[in-house]
Amino acid sequence: MSATAGELRCEGLGKVYPNGKKALGSVSFSIPTNGIFALIGRNGAGKTTLTRILSTILEPSYGKATIDGLDVMADATRLRERMAVVPQEGRTISWTTPTQMIGSYLMWRGLGYEESRAKAREAIAQVGLEKHADKLNSTLSGGMKRKVLVAMVIASDAELVFLDEPSTGLDPISRQELWNILTELGKKRFLFLTTHYLEEAEQIADRIGILNGGNLVALGTLPELRSKLQYTYSLKAPRGTALPTIQGESVTRRDGQVQIMTTEDEALAISKGLIERKTQFSVNPVTLDDIFHYLVAQNESAGGRT
Ligand SMILES: Nc1ncnc2c1ncn2[C@@H]1O[C@H](COP(=O)(O)OP(=O)(O)OP(=O)(O)O)[C@@H](O)[C@H]1O
Ligand SMILES: [Mg+2]
Repeated sequence: MSATAGELRCEGLGKVYPNGKKALGSVSFSIPTNGIFALIGRNGAGKTTLTRILSTILEPSYGKATIDGLDVMADATRLRERMAVVPQEGRTISWTTPTQMIGSYLMWRGLGYEESRAKAREAIAQVGLEKHADKLNSTLSGGMKRKVLVAMVIASDAELVFLDEPSTGLDPISRQELWNILTELGKKRFLFLTTHYLEEAEQIADRIGILNGGNLVALGTLPELRSKLQYTYSLKAPRGTALPTIQGESVTRRDGQVQIMTTEDEALAISKGLIERKTQFSVNPVTLDDIFHYLVAQNESAGGRT
């Protein structure tokens, strides 16, 4: 077994598009290829660019990426045999039904007709679309079409699954159902997904990466991301609030609130001062949302956004 088996590794990976736009700086990290990895970041952070490079769809401009020791450029054909990808702009084929589309995909991956159909139906049922299995894709709603694409990767035997914003456009109940499905899938395969729902990353991901302006600003499990900041409490008050004492770190969030990441004792002391001054505020344990706002604001104030 190679030293890099069971690992996705990027070394100085970068992408400059032909128009000169630098979408990825020099991204270096490694994660195990099991469980669920969620990549989060603002619009334009570079999530799709990184996902497309790792799923062998797009060539990097420089740097190197390997998955289980296979290079995404040199060994792309071998990697593709083990991969299933749902791109951000993935579309169902309008003139086929979900069963036909997924069935054909599985036949293309090498399965026989009967087995393909059976697996397609099973996966369609898993995403709750059995009643729509034989309707034309063009007659399904946007969220249902997204689910058909997810059913396609479920039906495949691909062990490396890339999903660019799988839950975008789904209603809250469907989204939760999808998270349950992905959690199950992540027990058997490696899932690399992007999302704008921090709750999704918090709930289903084993590891989380935060991209900002083409750079990876944080990577780790949720407890690791929390502990990196060394603070346990997040206190939010309206813009311009003068805070009595601060040993923690403060940023102004894009939603206009002043956010202080601090310790429990300090949070209590600050709260007391704010209550005395009748200032409205909230204090809660640090969430991924807080970490995200904090790291992005810090990175941008350091000139991290291109
Ligand atoms: N084909 C392209 N040519 C030029 N620039 C591009 C191209 N594709 C993306 N970009 C730019 O690269 C940057 C990263 O884009 P990317 O699509 O990777 O971001 P993202 O994090 O996936 O954003 P979103 O959350 O909106 O999907 C953006 O500034 C975008 O405008
Ligand atoms: Mg994207």
